Amino acid sequence: MQTMMNSQDHASEIEHSSTLDSDWWRQAVVYQIYPRSFFDTDGDGLGDIKGITQKVSYLKDLGIDAVWLSPFYPSPLADGGYDVANYTDVDPRLGSLADFDELISELHKVGIRVFVDIVPNHSSSEHPWFKQALASQPGSPERSRYHFYDGSGENGELPPSDWPSFFAPSAWTRTQNSDGSLGQWYLHLFAPEQPDFNWEHPDVPELFLQILKFWADRGVDGFRIDVAHALKKDMSQPFRSYPVLREMETPLTGDGVFLDRNEVHEVYKSWRILFNEYNPPRVAVAEAYIRPERRVLYASPDELGQAFNFDLLSSEFDAGEFRTVISKNLEFAAINASSSTWVLSNHDKPRHATKYGFAKIADADDWLLSSGESPVPDSALGLARARAATLLILALPGSTYLFQGEELGLYEVADIPVDQIQDPMWERSHHAAKGRDGCRVPLPWSANEKSFGFSSGTPHLPQPSGFGLFAADKQDRVSGSTLEMYRNAIKIRKQILVGESFSWIENPNSNVLHFQRENGWQCMTNFGSDSVPLPEGTLLIASTSESPEMLLPNTTVWVQK
Ligand code: NOJ
Repeated sequence: MQTMMNSQDHASEIEHSSTLDSDWWRQAVVYQIYPRSFFDTDGDGLGDIKGITQKVSYLKDLGIDAVWLSPFYPSPLADGGYDVANYTDVDPRLGSLADFDELISELHKVGIRVFVDIVPNHSSSEHPWFKQALASQPGSPERSRYHFYDGSGENGELPPSDWPSFFAPSAWTRTQNSDGSLGQWYLHLFAPEQPDFNWEHPDVPELFLQILKFWADRGVDGFRIDVAHALKKDMSQPFRSYPVLREMETPLTGDGVFLDRNEVHEVYKSWRILFNEYNPPRVAVAEAYIRPERRVLYASPDELGQAFNFDLLSSEFDAGEFRTVISKNLEFAAINASSSTWVLSNHDKPRHATKYGFAKIADADDWLLSSGESPVPDSALGLARARAATLLILALPGSTYLFQGEELGLYEVADIPVDQIQDPMWERSHHAAKGRDGCRVPLPWSANEKSFGFSSGTPHLPQPSGFGLFAADKQDRVSGSTLEMYRNAIKIRKQILVGESFSWIENPNSNVLHFQRENGWQCMTNFGSDSVPLPEGTLLIASTSESPEMLLPNTTVWVQK
């Protein structure tokens, strides 16, 4: 007979290990915080560092091993903080370095480690180096820290090459000289306010070693490396043509035009030397939207050690797709003795509770563009599938990255008024893409307070009235709530996890995925539309709130054999 075992019945509650365990990251649960939308303590409508400190007990109760803080540095916010004006300070609107030190100390006290985001491909156009470059002559040392070139065409009126940017049609913007005449062009793979560094200039690698050291010395445990594959470019003349930006189609040879070039690995080898000077060594994870075959290079132990696997972000809720992604990524991680990562939501993608409510996940893009009018997602189905998928990835070997608010079952917000959209993608795509604000809406903490307890002021992005139903205080200690499911699952995982073993258990139903971990821990997910028999064993947790006799559609269970 099956019984639902309360996680409290397991071995006594395990505090996070604060020992110097150099492998702590391999199977860590990492919670991504988008600081400006987490919790505001000073009423300016922007979340702040003190706000995170105030919620340390919430993070501890969630049971996570680490937080990853998206950029909190001084920034004009042309791209949600991924345009950094000063890499070794805190945005005064978010607090101070003293607040950061307090946060890290409070997190460490409860055994939670800290990743910070490093943005090495580009700075903000407000960074002192870029301002100096603009104020200097073409060909000057100041300009050569970035990529400044004369334009093509008879009078330099055309961009130097046909390279596209992720946010704008062209990766080049023309400067204006102090006398008002038009000048050189500079390269930016993202927004014009994010000029790309020239990594061939010795000041640039040196600056980033200093930045990494600055944060590592402050006690930061790990780094998430933004567009890790873009640092090195082929700037040989004449420029090679690259009219279409398709990262996943980057050649597998390491000689692409400006993505995933072989020389980038020299940078990460030098970073690894620095990381290993610390005890325990500092860790890092590469953000590189490239094919898994190439991604593994970044994850090698003499480089960053781990790379994000984003394959589930583009997978349908489908047993076959999940199985392929899981098998492939476990194999790739094994190549260089890394561990895989698993991600269903982050600050760049529509929340998975919404995405899975559509017939096809790509429908979410049309829905966003229509401001939530059509096609309409089945939100109950989306949440059920999201919970099932989360429970599945939490049972896999490797580290799981969670995005703030997914533990509340939050949905993507589609109807942010267009005059309040912050994402540069909206304007730069000429309104063809709504952008990423819908997953960055401030969190609801308490159902009955102003701005659902996020801020005493006006939240920097508007919250929908429906967020109240998902508020943390509505779910706290409520059996079957999404928040409690996350808490229980993370706790059980931590109590069982020892090694990284994994094997599939074949099931005659192709809509079912079933696998085994160490010590008889099994996970089964029903991706189909009919109930199926539960696996044998003691039921540890289910993604549905009922304790079912059968495994319902869109449901995951963990059992102990
Ligand atoms: C990836 C980050 O996740 C995204 O938010 C940002 O816009 C780009 N890199 C540029 O930094």
